[in-house]
Amino acid sequence: MKMILITGCSSGFGLETAKYFLERGWKVIATMRVPDATVLPPSEHLRVLPLDVTKLESIRSVIEAAGPIDALVNNAGIGTMCALEGAPMERFREIFDTNTFGTIAMSQAVIPQLRERRSGVIVNVTSTVTLKSIPLLSIYTASKAAINAFTECLALELQQFNVRACLVLPGRAPDTRFAENARVQALTFPEPYVGLAQMIFAEFANSTGPVTHSKDVAEAVWKTVTDPSTPAFLPAGADAIAWAEERDARR
Ligand SMILES: NC(=O)c1ccc[n+]([C@@H]2O[C@H](COP(=O)([O-])OP(=O)(O)OC[C@H]3O[C@@H](n4cnc5c(N)ncnc54)[C@H](OP(=O)(O)O)[C@@H]3O)[C@@H](O)[C@H]2O)c1
Repeated sequence: MKMILITGCSSGFGLETAKYFLERGWKVIATMRVPDATVLPPSEHLRVLPLDVTKLESIRSVIEAAGPIDALVNNAGIGTMCALEGAPMERFREIFDTNTFGTIAMSQAVIPQLRERRSGVIVNVTSTVTLKSIPLLSIYTASKAAINAFTECLALELQQFNVRACLVLPGRAPDTRFAENARVQALTFPEPYVGLAQMIFAEFANSTGPVTHSKDVAEAVWKTVTDPSTPAFLPAGADAIAWAEERDARR
């Protein structure tokens, strides 16, 4: 039976992906900053372990406790909507520590066992904001675009060991906790940017176009992990697929 380790399983895409793999007979290590097994259905194939991806000691402990894994999903992430001049550098470092260095550190920690076994896959969850720029998301977008580039290089480095590194790019998913968390950060807009911020928030609120659902992301991760012929750059969600097509048409 195959084993997958997923980061950020307390809610949203991570939680849905953990359920999706459990339902399909995989062993799942669902990691959370504050472990709470009650968010997932009880299963003998489920282990819930503590993990904060910004803490190397936490990463070391979870990899040791997990044992051999076949797939790693770097899903944990935080967002922020801010004008660059309106938020402190500490906040930007926090975003990069989680979205960028957290993903890099987790990948580094699992690669030795995958390389030795000559099999396995790392799936990094980034975002379609890396395909089409949105104002007030510069730091978040940069943190995810760095992982796009990182993953594509890493894939070439690991190919010789039959280990894959892949990207799943969700679109906008208003039904996870993500948007609400990012909105809390947005309260600190400096006055000259308030008009732009209000316009962007109104656009989001009034948008009737397609969005991404957690299930779309779980399905995309499933395809990526279980079918090596899946493109290593996979948009997840109807809006994400449309954005990727737009980007391809512009090229
Ligand atoms: N929702 C969207 O519109 C959207 C679109 C594109 C991409 N994404 C990306 O998709 C991923 C999942 O987002 P989501 O929408 O499912 O949001 P979510 O519901 O807020 O889930 C994010 C998860 O990341 C965890 N997390 C945050 N910081 C962490 C840390 N330092 N260590 C370990 N876990 C940490 C959170 O855990 P806690 O409960 O401990 O905070 C939570 O479980 C993120 O990488 C996000 O950037 C989201």
